[in-house]
Amino acid sequence: MNNFIFENATKTFFGKGCVGEYLCCLAKHYGKNVLLCYGGGSIKKNGVYDEVMESLRKAGKNVTEFSGIMSNPTYQKVLEGARLARENQIDLILGVGGGSVMDCCKAISLAAVYEGDVWADFWARPGIIDFEPLPLGVIVTAAGTGSEMNGGAVITNEELKIKTGRDYPRCNPKFALLDPSYTFSVPKRQMVSGGFDTLSHIMEIYFSRPDEENVSDDIAEGLMRGVIRDLRAAVKDPLDYTARSNLMWEATMAENRIIKLGKQTDFQCHMMEHSLGAYTDCNHGEGLAVLHPAYYRRICEAGAEKFARFAVRVWGVSPEGKTQEELARAGVEALADFIREIGMPATLKELGITPENTDLLAVANSCAIVSGSYRKLSHEEIYEIFRECL
Ligand code: NZQ
Ligand code: ZN
Repeated sequence: MNNFIFENATKTFFGKGCVGEYLCCLAKHYGKNVLLCYGGGSIKKNGVYDEVMESLRKAGKNVTEFSGIMSNPTYQKVLEGARLARENQIDLILGVGGGSVMDCCKAISLAAVYEGDVWADFWARPGIIDFEPLPLGVIVTAAGTGSEMNGGAVITNEELKIKTGRDYPRCNPKFALLDPSYTFSVPKRQMVSGGFDTLSHIMEIYFSRPDEENVSDDIAEGLMRGVIRDLRAAVKDPLDYTARSNLMWEATMAENRIIKLGKQTDFQCHMMEHSLGAYTDCNHGEGLAVLHPAYYRRICEAGAEKFARFAVRVWGVSPEGKTQEELARAGVEALADFIREIGMPATLKELGITPENTDLLAVANSCAIVSGSYRKLSHEEIYEIFRECL
């Protein structure tokens, strides 16, 4: 194992009924003014809003609402929320939603207290901010990103056409409440998209050095098998509590830093999706589903031993009669078949992206190139991948 330091500052409450049981007590630790942040209104339809408001009322809070946080949250929306937080002297931000709401809240928690240009100094030039953001608590309503237990936030600057993320440990929520039954109302398309995002996070970590036997990869293999099993079960029966609760915790485990320990990590596929998202506003998990097989077909030779291990240990492919390269390719094709099996898109066209409506060369050229990949891509190759995915 490589050297590492581990810390995770989020106190996490998991299980049916956890909001009613704990939110009131948790909120009492903070001042009177709460900024309640949510998305387009799903929480008003499924009863979550009423349950949260009841707990905040019991805790004696003044609640300011900030709604309409969109998927792929924008920097403009962050600034709007930060203004509201300052005007109302907010003591606690409470985000109720999926990754977009949680990420937007983290960005608001920084922008609300920072005097300078938070885009220039934090998002565009990582490394020079060192201060305490406003405290944040989150209630997860859609599983996938794992944002609930890390300091990461992904924000889109529409003007500059940049979607970028950063993990600032002080942005870790102070507390996270995860009630799997809240995710029952998530539409199937988003449920599958979130589940695939989780699988993608695990693969982005697993397919990186070091490749010697290590605890992080062992846990990653177990998590990948779990996500595949639970997604199949949840697609078959969306009200399967066991499957939905596993998917919720698998999402958190994928991104709470535990399986990153000692690993270099890749995340090249995420960089490609983020560039695509900045230009097209595509759904995050669906963008990843289209790109992953094409990306892995390109790099699996360079990481053949690990891809072969993935085929056997994660997908149960028989190694008999196959060379290491054949086995590696079989693992990638098993992934591609699974994407189709769970009804996800496999081409950019299915996402509404065509060369006529999107300048794919500009998208490719704006993509960050990572150093942790088994084989470092060039911008030309990223453009070729986009073309292959059409
Ligand atoms: O807005 P509402 O009405 O709430 O509807 C949402 C939204 O339309 C709906 N939804 C959420 N909970 C629901 C529900 N509908 C019914 N019942 C419920 N219980 O789901 C839709 C999508 O929500 P969103 O939060 O956008 O999805 P997701 O959780 O996939 O988050 C995507 C964002 O997270 C970023 C992505 O790039 C994207 O911007 N990511 C954040 C990461 C992080 N912070 O660590 C890592 C990821 O790799 C990712 O980049
Ligand atoms: Zn992701």
